[in-house]
Amino acid sequence: MFSLPKNVTIIEVGPRDGLQNEKNHVDENDKLDFIHSLQAAGIKEMELTSFVSPKWVPQMADAKNIVAKTKKIGRQFVLVPNEKGADLAIEAGAESIAVFVGVSNTFNKKNINRTTVESLDALEPVISKLKRDSLFVRACISTAFYCPYEGKIEKEEVSDLCRRFVSMGVDELSVADTIGMANPVESYDLFNLLKEQFPQVLLTAHFHDTRKMAIANIFAALQAGIDRFDTSAGGLGGCPFAPGATGNVATEDVVHMLDSLGIETGISVEKICEAVGMIAPLVSHPIDTGLYKMHKNRSC
Ligand code: HMG
Ligand code: MG
Repeated sequence: MFSLPKNVTIIEVGPRDGLQNEKNHVDENDKLDFIHSLQAAGIKEMELTSFVSPKWVPQMADAKNIVAKTKKIGRQFVLVPNEKGADLAIEAGAESIAVFVGVSNTFNKKNINRTTVESLDALEPVISKLKRDSLFVRACISTAFYCPYEGKIEKEEVSDLCRRFVSMGVDELSVADTIGMANPVESYDLFNLLKEQFPQVLLTAHFHDTRKMAIANIFAALQAGIDRFDTSAGGLGGCPFAPGATGNVATEDVVHMLDSLGIETGISVEKICEAVGMIAPLVSHPIDTGLYKMHKNRSC
């Protein structure tokens, strides 16, 4: 029979991964309304924003105000690529920091202008300092299955990168299918290996839904013992430096599947759909995730 957890933690990434690649400028107050309506739906862990170069990612230029003005509920992550980002995040009052590195060198160069090893070497003292100051540190591992430039990534390479982060003392690894190419067998195999190798950290799966495989990949990851998933309300998302990376798997669709399996998340699908309804007119493309479409037709 299937092995399923009783509870799953959803980490909402819509305000960060969802909006970072959005063509329309979304106003700071609209972002805050979106964040607060997601909190009202029961979200307890969320990626709020990122402290990155505003020249590279203009949509995240308001990071300081987003951190300052968000209600302090649960664990709120901000992404940082380097020491400067970490310093700005702490100055703004962030308490949970997410660093991000790609397994693939080519992707990492395009994303943060450094090779993977250069990024790790630069992040090591930053993470040590964050841990000395008792901050929560999450490491996001991009291109853990496929890279848009280098193709298939071997799971041993992912495991080596994770080991380096674990040795630096991170609390969580969020392992990503950046361009949504993984299949359920690859999802099971990688998460099974990581679960076995790194029992001392929280392990989270982050699936983009480019080929509509994310729900199947989540079900496979559940079988491997994963009970934390990054999802994005309305399926918003995509990395500006990963061609072909469309939205993340939709929070409402994942919570609906978990509800139907009797797995608790503490999140209301209906209220997530209300949050999506609030952000939908502000983004440059239609939102057509399964549960949101039903909600619009008043049958959610
Ligand atoms: P660079 O040009 O090599 O930076 O970019 P630099 O160190 O040479 O500095 C150049 C300028 O940027 C300087 O300013 C720095 O002060 C400034 P200037 O002197 O020209 O006025 N700078 C910064 N400003 C604000 N915040 C900072 C910062 N660092 C330097 N942190 C850099 C390197 C990392 C800055 C750039 O490449 C960058 O910002 N990249 C961001 C990429 C990004 O946000 N990608 C999306 C997030 S990752 C993702 O979506 C994947 C994930 O979802 C998982 C998955 O799905 O795979 C997590
Ligand atoms: Mg992502």
